[in-house]
Amino acid sequence: MDFPELIRRRYSVRAYRPEPVPEEALARILEAGRLAPTAANRQPFRIVVLHTAGRQEALRRVYARDWFLQAPIVLCVCGVPSEAWVRKDGRSHLDIDAAIVMDHLVLAATEEGLGTCWIANFDVDAARSVFEVRPGEVPLLLTTLGYAADRAGVKERRQLDELVRRID
Ligand SMILES: Cc1cc2nc3c(=O)[nH]c(=O)nc-3n(C[C@H](O)[C@H](O)[C@H](O)COP(=O)(O)O)c2cc1C
Repeated sequence: MDFPELIRRRYSVRAYRPEPVPEEALARILEAGRLAPTAANRQPFRIVVLHTAGRQEALRRVYARDWFLQAPIVLCVCGVPSEAWVRKDGRSHLDIDAAIVMDHLVLAATEEGLGTCWIANFDVDAARSVFEVRPGEVPLLLTTLGYAADRAGVKERRQLDELVRRID
């Protein structure tokens, strides 16, 4: 898939088939996450791979959507605040780094023909327990990972001239 097509193909998948994710595909997706750029190359993130089978009850406490429990895998990107680069004005780049890692994971998954959905609206305390988040780490973003059972809708986006300003 070329890059423009990859970008067009990715969408938030909110229905999954039960087929497992091939180990080799998962390895390539995680490698894409590993190679993500981070501020000052601090790499202040950890990725937790959770197989959902048999954990539906616990996962429902994290994010109570049926499609969330359907996916064979959920990935959790955790941040390590003490490792993050902090700008002079005090702004930690932890969240930005985590988002770039997640975008790498998601785009690599799309390339593998797998579906994903960014999830930020989860219960943090439940996620800490279910994803066995370690002291010093914070769960920042989740994505489901599996084969889609739905189809992409129309992409609702603002026009480019609303989003881009040029200074010539
Ligand atoms: C940082 C972030 C957090 C998101 N959190 C959620 C979420 O908690 N639940 C959900 O269903 N979708 C979530 N989404 C998905 C967005 O709703 C979705 O990307 C957006 O509506 C555009 O649709 P598309 O991904 O199909 O192109 C999130 C997306 C991003 C980038």
